Amino acid sequence: MATKIAVIISGEGSNLQALINACADKEFPANIVLVISNNPEANGLKKADAAGIQRKIIYEDRHSTRESFDEEMAEHIKSAGVELICLAGFMRLLSPKFVNDWQDKIINIHPSLLPAFKGLNVHSRVLKMGTMFSGCTVHFVRPDVDDGPILIQSVVPVLPNDSEETLGARVLAQEHIIYPMAVRWIAQNRVKVVSCHTEIQGSIKRPRSVINPYEYN
Ligand code: GRF
Repeated sequence: MATKIAVIISGEGSNLQALINACADKEFPANIVLVISNNPEANGLKKADAAGIQRKIIYEDRHSTRESFDEEMAEHIKSAGVELICLAGFMRLLSPKFVNDWQDKIINIHPSLLPAFKGLNVHSRVLKMGTMFSGCTVHFVRPDVDDGPILIQSVVPVLPNDSEETLGARVLAQEHIIYPMAVRWIAQNRVKVVSCHTEIQGSIKRPRSVINPYEYN
């Protein structure tokens, strides 16, 4: 049985689209059963509609606390029978209760090589700092922002004339590759969380940070 996933978004939804495309393959071991957005204008909602996926909008102005917003989210997630929650550009902090209730069942994609450059405006900070490499990370979610055991990373070069846009596009292209990979590994039950890191059964035994994503299996 395919693992039922929810994808939670706030904006463009290009990672959602990458997951929709992956799930379209009959062999892929997961299936998106629900898309949730806190933003009624999110472009990703159109992508969910085009794929015929049930979607819900949770209106922030109907909730006075983070906990109450997250409770509504949990109700939708439970009633759809979701087994794995994928944050994909969701621009809200989650309450510790929600994160702890779904321990090791929430993953996130972040456009940097964590634990470097947590938070917002990553590409501009990378360019300002002059690092020579950047990349993206899929990780399990913990109550602290952009924190948690890392599942997979992809590295890209930062080129001399990069702008936020060119670097961002290079990183995003990698996000679309590694997010479905991470989901596949979890759905295949190949992932074990061992304190602060993960062990992936059957993956290449080399430091994952230096592996090109195309080398993963
Ligand atoms: C991505 O860069 C992701 O890493 C970050 O937010 C962005 C979302 O992009 N968390 P999209 O909505 O998936 O196109």
